[in-house]
Amino acid sequence: MLITLASAKGSPGVTTTARVLASVWPQEVALVDADPAGGDISLWSPAPDGTPLDPDTGLLTLAVEARRGVASLDPQLQTIDGGLQVVCGVQSPGQLAGMGPVWPSLAGVLRQHPGTVVADVGRLTPDSPVLPLVLDSDALVFVVRPTIEGYAHLRERLRWLTTVDSGMRPMPALGVIAVTEARDTGSLRDLELLLGHAGLNVPVLGAVGVDQKSADVVAARIARGIDRSLLVRSARQLVGPVRALGESRQHAAAGFLKKELR
Ligand SMILES: Nc1ncnc2c1ncn2[C@@H]1O[C@H](COP(=O)(O)OP(=O)(O)OP(=O)(O)O)[C@@H](O)[C@H]1O
Ligand SMILES: [Mg+2]
Repeated sequence: MLITLASAKGSPGVTTTARVLASVWPQEVALVDADPAGGDISLWSPAPDGTPLDPDTGLLTLAVEARRGVASLDPQLQTIDGGLQVVCGVQSPGQLAGMGPVWPSLAGVLRQHPGTVVADVGRLTPDSPVLPLVLDSDALVFVVRPTIEGYAHLRERLRWLTTVDSGMRPMPALGVIAVTEARDTGSLRDLELLLGHAGLNVPVLGAVGVDQKSADVVAARIARGIDRSLLVRSARQLVGPVRALGESRQHAAAGFLKKELR
């Protein structure tokens, strides 16, 4: 199953959410840094022995190999401290220039992973080079902060997505995660109402708690255990809804294929 996490605008916490969600995922999982603006995951996460990850092993090599038709995910996986397997992103946006036609086949490579792939695709705009990969994911989850502008940009991005042609496959199942204070259930309700009024049938899957200290640990700004933190506990609550969202599209895709073959 391929799950992509994105923002509509700003930096609401996509990388932090993707990183923590992958680290609490109960089955086999790989975290892919596919942010075209340049990846943060390799900057935040050293190898278990404390050495930096190899920047030449990762998305760029995978994309080059996919272009040659020989890509395989396994050689591009590196293990980070804590045991999570990751695919490092690009170091600068220019590195993805000219990679255009490769993304649809790269989605196929990611899908061959035996477990779940969680991919951080950064800010999703109509000209994002990774849009074909996003459109071939099972679930596309937007991360948003509960602000007027956060909601407004999200609504417009979701509206735009309803006009996008995903080709021969069904669109990814769409969902939203809000990064918000633990007691703030009102924001989730407001967001659901706003989307409903806009005619957007997109579920709000839940919240990632605002927990700056733990987010700082994830970003390697401070060191301490966060296993029982609000950030990790709230991410655990999201595993079920995110997985169910991805599975709903997998079922839709199977039905779609059956119809095509008839
Ligand atoms: N749950 C959270 N609680 C508190 N702070 C958070 C949380 N998630 C992210 N942050 C903070 O918000 C800032 C942006 O986070 P992050 O880099 O994950 O966002 P992003 O959407 O991936 O941004 P970018 O667009 O730069 O890739 C960072 O300072 C991070 O520590
Ligand atoms: Mg990011």
